[in-house]
Amino acid sequence: MPGAMTATPSQDTSTIVAVPLGARAYDIHVGRGLIARAGALMAPVLSQKRVFIVTDSNVAPLYLAAVTQSLTQAGIHVDHAVVPAGESSKDFAHLARLLDAMLAAKCERGTMIVALGGGVIGDLAGFAASVLLRGVDFIQIPTTLLSQVDSSVGGKTGINTSAGKNLVGSFHQPRLVLADTDVLATLPMRELRAGYAEVAKYGLLGDAVFWAWLEANAPTMLTAGASHHDLLRVAIVTSCAAKAKIVVADEKESGVRALLNLGHTFGHALEAEMGYGEDLLHGEGVAIGMVLAFDLSARLGLCPPADAARVRAHMQAVGLPAVPPRSGPRGPVTAAALIAHMSHDKKMKDGAVTFVLARRIGEAFLSRDVSTAALEDMLTAALA
Ligand code: NAD
Ligand code: GLY
Repeated sequence: MPGAMTATPSQDTSTIVAVPLGARAYDIHVGRGLIARAGALMAPVLSQKRVFIVTDSNVAPLYLAAVTQSLTQAGIHVDHAVVPAGESSKDFAHLARLLDAMLAAKCERGTMIVALGGGVIGDLAGFAASVLLRGVDFIQIPTTLLSQVDSSVGGKTGINTSAGKNLVGSFHQPRLVLADTDVLATLPMRELRAGYAEVAKYGLLGDAVFWAWLEANAPTMLTAGASHHDLLRVAIVTSCAAKAKIVVADEKESGVRALLNLGHTFGHALEAEMGYGEDLLHGEGVAIGMVLAFDLSARLGLCPPADAARVRAHMQAVGLPAVPPRSGPRGPVTAAALIAHMSHDKKMKDGAVTFVLARRIGEAFLSRDVSTAALEDMLTAALA
């Protein structure tokens, strides 16, 4: 079992991770069978026996009926909207349609919005909840590994615009998160692996014991088998506890929360270059980005080269990409193109990109001192 956790076992087979944010505190339940118990679990945080579920066209046929049944059995009235699956639904047009649907259903201030889906649904529904009637509560039922360990926790919501990803949004904490590991059974293996990159991130940025546990267990965890669910639960609980700790320390990202962007500056640049589509999933970009962040740290003499090699070897061992794609929809991927994307990063401060670098596995830090020449050398070598 990995090290520091602030989680407690509940009476059933799930584990609860607390997010102690004062008036905005909430629990994250992680385990099997949570969807079947959604009505009972949600009831204590509802101010009105009414919810509006937002889900996508892939998740609706799989889980909407089960969630609705559980809620209806608990005497809760359910309305819902289904948006097309995929990143393209995270835009102004879909947000507007969703808000219209909520208003047409006569949602009131006490109506709970429920995000049932991956990070796209969590970000879109959460943002809609934050502006509907000047802000209503919402609950996350994340159905991808990425959303269970990252996007459903911490309150970042938002949409994409023509200027870039996640540039319009809000901080709006959920009232409850139900991460049912059973739903991961229907998730395509490629999506499961991509979500795993965010799990690995928590080990790399702050928990060497968890990282070693992942090195030993992740290959089994990512292959269906007898211990698959137990391993997943440990990994999700540890990840959520790590994220909760950081979010509680820095809810609005004025400091330490930026460590959660380990691998993301490179990852976002690669995603932008590859067109934000099937060619490179977000988590795949993050996996490559974390390898590059450790490579850069080693090249700058900040981190042992052996640690950078370990990160690369692990990504390969779990079937994640560890090297940047050489070409994309616009032709060959170049260091200059990636650096140009990085200069649009929303984490820019006074014109400088903030990088998450590492002193070793389990010890990341923020740096704004990386020279363009060092960056270009590292990227040119990685793309050679
Ligand atoms: P996603 O929501 O697009 O889900 C991936 C795919 O899996 C979709 O096709 C979806 O329909 C399908 N799917 C979802 N659950 C399924 C299930 N149980 N079985 C079968 N198919 C299922 O993508 P994602 O990777 O979950 O999330 C990516 C999004 O999350 C991006 O928009 C990213 O910006 C955002 N994000 C937000 C935060 C945050 O803190 N708010 C953090 C990380 C990422
Ligand atoms: N996914 C990064 C954050 O929530 O801050």
